[in-house]
Amino acid sequence: MTADKGKVMLIAGGSGSIGSAIAREAQTQGWTVAIHGRCADKVNALASQLGVTGPVEGFVADIREGDAAQALVAEVAEQFGRIDAVIDCTACGPVGITGLFAETEPNAFGAFLDQSVGWLERLAHAAYPHLVQDGGTLISFASDAGVFAAPRQTLIGAARAAAIGFIRNFALEAARHGVRAHCISPSFVEGSESAGRMGSERMAKAASRASLGLPSAKDIAPLAVFLCGEGAQKITGQVISINGGLHA
Ligand SMILES: NC(=O)c1ccc[n+]([C@@H]2O[C@H](COP(=O)([O-])OP(=O)(O)OC[C@H]3O[C@@H](n4cnc5c(N)ncnc54)[C@H](OP(=O)(O)O)[C@@H]3O)[C@@H](O)[C@H]2O)c1
Repeated sequence: MTADKGKVMLIAGGSGSIGSAIAREAQTQGWTVAIHGRCADKVNALASQLGVTGPVEGFVADIREGDAAQALVAEVAEQFGRIDAVIDCTACGPVGITGLFAETEPNAFGAFLDQSVGWLERLAHAAYPHLVQDGGTLISFASDAGVFAAPRQTLIGAARAAAIGFIRNFALEAARHGVRAHCISPSFVEGSESAGRMGSERMAKAASRASLGLPSAKDIAPLAVFLCGEGAQKITGQVISINGGLHA
């Protein structure tokens, strides 16, 4: 039995590539897992797969709705009675915000920023009263675009840097209530849906530069679960890149 057995982890975007790998890893380590996503069929398929070996429940909410974070957290708390970790793995579509800055669409800027950092702030705000109960953890999946500059990443870089700034400041403040917070920052994740959207040429180029090999979602999941667990009780406010040696 692990020290974290019976604790509850809410994974926003848990039906996606990285979120589902974390859900599997967390469940193996004794966590009770609440999986969130946008598409009910996808969420329910994963919940029933994982449900074979432990308590798991699927939740559906669109993060573009202003009250989605509050409703989601309230539903999970009602179902499981506690929330010890919240991991945000949601990814918003890149429509209008990728490419050279001059080619992006100003009409998309505000919504993208809101779905990236506004959603995270609302999620953290809704979850906070639960996380303070027993020294909980918040993890935001950001991106190396928020840490390392690169062409064609202006808007993603700005949104991710905002999320990182929020988490680092939140971590310092929340420590007084025993709550920890981190960003995990991938670059290119082999086999993920986001990687599919990046295209095979970009992925191949990144793979050729990553001396350790590009990580898969399975390579990332153990770190996320570790940071939420007993073994990481004295660590907070960190931004950890997982990129196979692309950047340091
Ligand atoms: N994979 C990479 O190469 C990579 C690189 C850098 C950073 N990251 C970051 O790491 C995180 C996880 O990435 P991933 O590859 O696991 O992404 P993913 O496979 O695309 O999963 C995204 C998740 O977000 C949910 N989602 C998307 N739009 C939503 C909406 N409007 N309302 C509610 N849920 C919504 C999806 O639900 P549905 O499936 O139901 O739509 C899914 O559960 C993201 O923040 C991503 O930007 C990933």
